Amino acid sequence: MSLDLAIILPTLNERGNLVPLVDRIDRAIGTAARWEVIIVDDDSKDGTADEARALALTDARVRVIQRIGRRGLASAAIEGFCATAAPFVAVMDADHQHDPALLPGMLAALKAGEADICVASRFAEGASTAEWAAPERERLSTYANAIARRITGVDLTDPMSGYFMLPSDAARALVPRLTGIGFKILLDLLATSDTTMRVKEFPLNFAARREGESKLDRAILFDFLAGLYDKTLGKVIPTRFALFGTVGALGVLVHFAVLTSLLFAFDHAFTWAQTAAVLVAMSFNFWLNNWLTYRDKRLTGAGALLRGWIGFVATCAIGGFANVAIATFLEGQGVFWALAALAGIVVGSVWNYALSSRFVWGR
Ligand code: GDD
Ligand code: MN
Repeated sequence: MSLDLAIILPTLNERGNLVPLVDRIDRAIGTAARWEVIIVDDDSKDGTADEARALALTDARVRVIQRIGRRGLASAAIEGFCATAAPFVAVMDADHQHDPALLPGMLAALKAGEADICVASRFAEGASTAEWAAPERERLSTYANAIARRITGVDLTDPMSGYFMLPSDAARALVPRLTGIGFKILLDLLATSDTTMRVKEFPLNFAARREGESKLDRAILFDFLAGLYDKTLGKVIPTRFALFGTVGALGVLVHFAVLTSLLFAFDHAFTWAQTAAVLVAMSFNFWLNNWLTYRDKRLTGAGALLRGWIGFVATCAIGGFANVAIATFLEGQGVFWALAALAGIVVGSVWNYALSSRFVWGR
């Protein structure tokens, strides 16, 4: 039997979950298919990659991709799409929330040509969730589904599902046009496809996480709005840059708030007030970008945050100089002052964005 299916397991600190999960996959599929597991680990601090390699030594069906200096669930899945020779690929969480028992049925449906993609759904008829069955969440997911339907043209009960299967060549064909931002890889695949994909849903009994903690937050609405923007205006101004710019504009407001209050409090100490305002605004921007713009690559822990903040301040300092230099030059050339200032701001922001996305939240 030739290789049928690759199961991609993106991992971030899932060391203890791997051995039992591969065992469960093995028992779920049995002799129904030949499969491989590709563990895509983003350099977990708990030694997940070492554990995966140890497992691969005893079980040749297990493969390991360890990525250093890169982050992100969506990009980990893409990495897996491109690393397998199997004709079908599945993506699932490594924390046992996704039941491997659905795999054979999904594979059979794809092989029979019943669907272009199979999706495990927490909200389809017959599904259940062990977590957050809050009414507010139900309402949110109704809105989310309506938006998802608009973007993808597909009616799904669970467009945010992280558990799905499709032919691997179809996945790879879409990769060049995927955004790779955030966690909405399924939505991204559906929205990017030129033809409306035929989806088959499989009700999922969404289990509680077996060990460790969730890495994603529940900003579902944000993911949707970002996805919507990305598929429309995102072609003109990239999503991440738009977020970065919005955060920057809020930073200006923070700057003025701090500046005016300090000026009122301490008469005439303009230089000090301005310095304090710059520092507060930069820290605010760093925090908000870390929380929002780069939420899929968020820096956590005191050490990483401190290094990130220093990198961000250094980047902004250079960007600030470039801003002033260009604005001064243009103004000296007779360009209207407001236009000169705007040009400085644009060049400075592009610089800040380019450098910080590379060196502060580098992939
Ligand atoms: N390689 C890699 N890189 N793996 C990651 C990263 C990352 O940056 N972030 C998370 N993972 C892995 C986790 O180790 C886990 O195996 C899987 O991706 C899902 O992460 P969880 O932290 O368990 O996510 P969740 O349970 O909160 O979210 C689930 O539900 C969401 C919908 O509410 C996931 O299935 C999401 O895909 C889904 O969108
Ligand atoms: Mn999980």
